[in-house]
Amino acid sequence: LASIEVDVASLTPGMSLTVKWRGKPIFIRNRTPEEVKAAADVALSDLKDPIARNANLPPDAQATGVDRSGGKDKENWIVMVGTCTHLGCVPLGQAGEYNGWFCPCHGSVYDTAGRIRKGPAPQNLAIPTFSFVSDTKIKIG
Ligand code: FES
Repeated sequence: LASIEVDVASLTPGMSLTVKWRGKPIFIRNRTPEEVKAAADVALSDLKDPIARNANLPPDAQATGVDRSGGKDKENWIVMVGTCTHLGCVPLGQAGEYNGWFCPCHGSVYDTAGRIRKGPAPQNLAIPTFSFVSDTKIKIG
């Protein structure tokens, strides 16, 4: 399947869902206001990888909180490929020092925007092509 549609109506703030797309896990998270703020408050200069890695944006877009999210009106939403950019393990959600994702294989720590903050992974978790087809339905791919 080239693309899938995911119903996210049941995801209240703080809840996540993992779906499969093209054989990869896709993490979808409805972030709490605190998680959105924690990500937005980080200076780009503090990031190991300052590039958004967001397939929906130009390749040089920066890894701001909003450009790592569903966008300005949907900044609470995170959609990412759930594959550690080190060697491809699947990170655990709501874990690690930044309460984002933690990869148990070699200890990479991602923040609430899926940006790499510590450990051996070189890049932020990738954001696939996605769009909202309605307020509660996300098309991936
Ligand atoms: Fe995630 Fe190595 S595969 S830290």
